[in-house]
Amino acid sequence: MKRSIIGAMFASSLLSVSAFAETISISCGAVGQELELCQQGVAAWEKDTGHTVKIVTTPNSTTERLALYQQLLAAGANDIDVFQIDVIWPGILGNHFIDLKPYSNGDEASHFPSIVSNNTVKDRLVAMPWFTDAGVLYYRTDLLEKYDEEPPETWEALTETAEKVMNGEREAGNDKMWGFVWQGRAYEGLTCDALEWVASYNGGTIVDQDGKITINNDNAKQALTTAAGWVDTISPPGVLNYGEEEARGVFQTGNAVFMRNWPYAWSLGNSEDSPIKGNIGVVALPKGGDDGSHSGTLGGWQLAVSKYSKNPELAASLVMYLTSLEEQKRRAIVGSYNPTIESLYEDEEVLTAVPFFGSLYDTFANGTPRPSTATGVKYNQVSNAFWNATHSVLSGSKDADAALTKLQKDLKRISRGGRW
Ligand code: GLC
Repeated sequence: MKRSIIGAMFASSLLSVSAFAETISISCGAVGQELELCQQGVAAWEKDTGHTVKIVTTPNSTTERLALYQQLLAAGANDIDVFQIDVIWPGILGNHFIDLKPYSNGDEASHFPSIVSNNTVKDRLVAMPWFTDAGVLYYRTDLLEKYDEEPPETWEALTETAEKVMNGEREAGNDKMWGFVWQGRAYEGLTCDALEWVASYNGGTIVDQDGKITINNDNAKQALTTAAGWVDTISPPGVLNYGEEEARGVFQTGNAVFMRNWPYAWSLGNSEDSPIKGNIGVVALPKGGDDGSHSGTLGGWQLAVSKYSKNPELAASLVMYLTSLEEQKRRAIVGSYNPTIESLYEDEEVLTAVPFFGSLYDTFANGTPRPSTATGVKYNQVSNAFWNATHSVLSGSKDADAALTKLQKDLKRISRGGRW
């Protein structure tokens, strides 16, 4: 009798491993250390649960990633259970994801309320916050010191300092030196950079919270005209085709004084094999003139479970693990990915690894949001029109006045007269 009970127990425990070990899949980004960190987090969950996760990598460009997701989700494909989604997508993709509230145990309460509300569509929590982002200004501490310069408060000061240091370094023999690198390719990343310029000159956020199109104004024109003046002076002509990683490549090899990028570039720039290790400073992006304001576009990524998943419960368990405090802390320390859990901004180990998470707390807590809530499912069309208009000014094919006048008309048409 005893034997048979033990036998049955043994059989059933075997069963729980063999018959119930499942495989699910997750799409992870691969910008900087993203993929490696995703693999490590996934491996820890696999070890805990005995299940297996297939990692699907996606293109670096947010714009290309969205097109891929839209194709998969529109076809109701169940190849991917967990989707890593951009902060601007809940409105566009939300209908394809399950409500995570039944699985979250209320854990969302410890995350920034603004991100949780961004991820809540018609009362459904369609994604858990994973990491947040805001644009920041990187500079070379050694070079500013050498030329007796301070980190710039305004774009005008940045332009002057960049020019001075770049020219000095070129004369000293580094003919590859540039003043300022950023994201100028015609894609979502340019929308982020250009929104920062426009908002820093008090030119608004393209479309305001009530859905009103505000972009055709003099401050916005001044912002875009200023940025166009950088191309082929302090910024390489190739910047018009740069994404995040191209800008980081130039800065990290030591060939730029300033860089606009997201926080992930900090940890890589300070890695053992980085030529500029220990010589990097990070401050808020400059104001547009003395009356302007510091502005960093709010970015960031969430994890969502597909409605077409055959295993929503397991998928949700993976999401809750990856977005947990433990994982967010590890990712902050190893990869300088900003936590979405507020208490981690007071964690000593996190602040030692990434001091600017403390000094720039306001930048992260009050980033400038893109108008994705006001424009809902139309956001990508709005952004596309904005980055194309901006790109035409940067490349000199239109002046800011002509580009923004046309953009306003395009946005009116897209919004069907402001009704979105
Ligand atoms: C970063 C941001 C994301 C943004 C993208 C643009 O990944 O987190 O929100 O859309 O950059 O390139």
